[in-house]
Amino acid sequence: MCAGFDPVAEYKARTKKSAEWFEVASRHLPGGVTGNVKFYPPYPVYLKRAKGSHVWDLDGNDYIDYMLCFGPLILGHAHPKVIDAIRKQLDRDGTQIFGAPHELEVRMAERLKKIFPFSDAVRFTNSGLEATMHALRVAKGAKKRSRIAKFEGAYHGCYDEVLVSLTPSEDAAGPRAAPQTVSGSYGTSETVINNVQVLPYNDIENTVRILKAHKDDLAALIMEPVQRGFVVPDLEFLRIVRETTRELGIILIFDEVMSGFRMEKYGGAATVYGIDPDMICLGKIIGGGFPCGAFMGKRDIMDMVNPVTRAKNERVFHGGTFNGHPTILAAGMATLDVLEEPKTYPYLNKVSDNLRDGFNDLFGRMGYEAKAIGPGSTFNLVFTKGKIADYRDAAKCDVKLRQKLDFGMLARGLHFHPDKPFYTCTEHSDKDVDQTLKVAEEVLKKMKV
Ligand SMILES: Cc1ncc(COP(=O)(O)O)c(C=O)c1O
Repeated sequence: MCAGFDPVAEYKARTKKSAEWFEVASRHLPGGVTGNVKFYPPYPVYLKRAKGSHVWDLDGNDYIDYMLCFGPLILGHAHPKVIDAIRKQLDRDGTQIFGAPHELEVRMAERLKKIFPFSDAVRFTNSGLEATMHALRVAKGAKKRSRIAKFEGAYHGCYDEVLVSLTPSEDAAGPRAAPQTVSGSYGTSETVINNVQVLPYNDIENTVRILKAHKDDLAALIMEPVQRGFVVPDLEFLRIVRETTRELGIILIFDEVMSGFRMEKYGGAATVYGIDPDMICLGKIIGGGFPCGAFMGKRDIMDMVNPVTRAKNERVFHGGTFNGHPTILAAGMATLDVLEEPKTYPYLNKVSDNLRDGFNDLFGRMGYEAKAIGPGSTFNLVFTKGKIADYRDAAKCDVKLRQKLDFGMLARGLHFHPDKPFYTCTEHSDKDVDQTLKVAEEVLKKMKV
């Protein structure tokens, strides 16, 4: 490897104002950020402007953006139809939000039910984490059981219960066939840890075995059908998970906060794989770039929150000052309008396939044991020759090579979060794709010398 190639030094040389601002920010915000995911060492790029598929940092550097706020901006930054919808909504209502029920909540609920037809009812939240949290509470109320199951390596938001076994160390994780329940955040109580049953993703035999062993105390199994946006499920595995949870009376919740509208067609992983869960959680894209989430499902389950059909002492609590925010729903509706147009998904697929194929071609031609993997408009770059079927496979990839590539690309005008997936949008052009692959080739060459 070229001793003279130091991509982190190149990154630092190019982002001096971000480094300065990081110092200032760190005086006021722990780690200079308002969420740990936004930090990466030595310091993150601080952005100040965006247009379409591009962003600019404090130093004025222009980047093609593949972070897109970790996925929501599937139409790029400030799509005119989204901005127009927000303006019109504000003018029409004469307020940002009433707090009283609003027509748009009904319209969006109707729309989501058409997209996910196994669902009879919807409730809105302010984020993906709230969607999964309320869905789990509703499931526990419906089943009168307090334990839940989740897959090792799956992310469902940042609260204790679902952070369990998110990124356990190899030592703590235990046997692959019977993953141990490992706290995902300092300060998590033993009670919470004991309430979670961890399962091995993409492993039919052991998932079924563990679910059967704990069937009497599990209210729900929550899962990302596509783990972390890029680890695809074996279809048979997904089918068996569906059959088994149905047989055992465990509520199956698909967390599609990430995969929703990012698969290769309009809808979610449930749509693409043809599997109906009992409940589904959405977020990111349905807010059109603003904080939003939703949980939905079958009538008998969703009725747990119904103040008309259930007495207070038999009801599951669901609240939130900003739930169903009309301005945000207007942005979400405008986003879905564009996604629904017949040309949108073919275009997104073309851009995403060109990038995936381009990276794979580069890796192959240049002799790297690496690949671009993931469905629809999400992909990740993994340095391994092996198959990635779960968190443990992903954790074994070569992070040092990935780090070189990441900082080499960041220093040459591609914006994304190091070590995280790339997201594409309808504003990415053929020119963006060509430029991205040119940059990647240059960096991969430098890494070889
Ligand atoms: C699958 C999944 N579920 C839940 C969440 C939490 O969503 P939010 O960050 O809006 O709280 C995320 C966020 O990335 C996610 O990817």
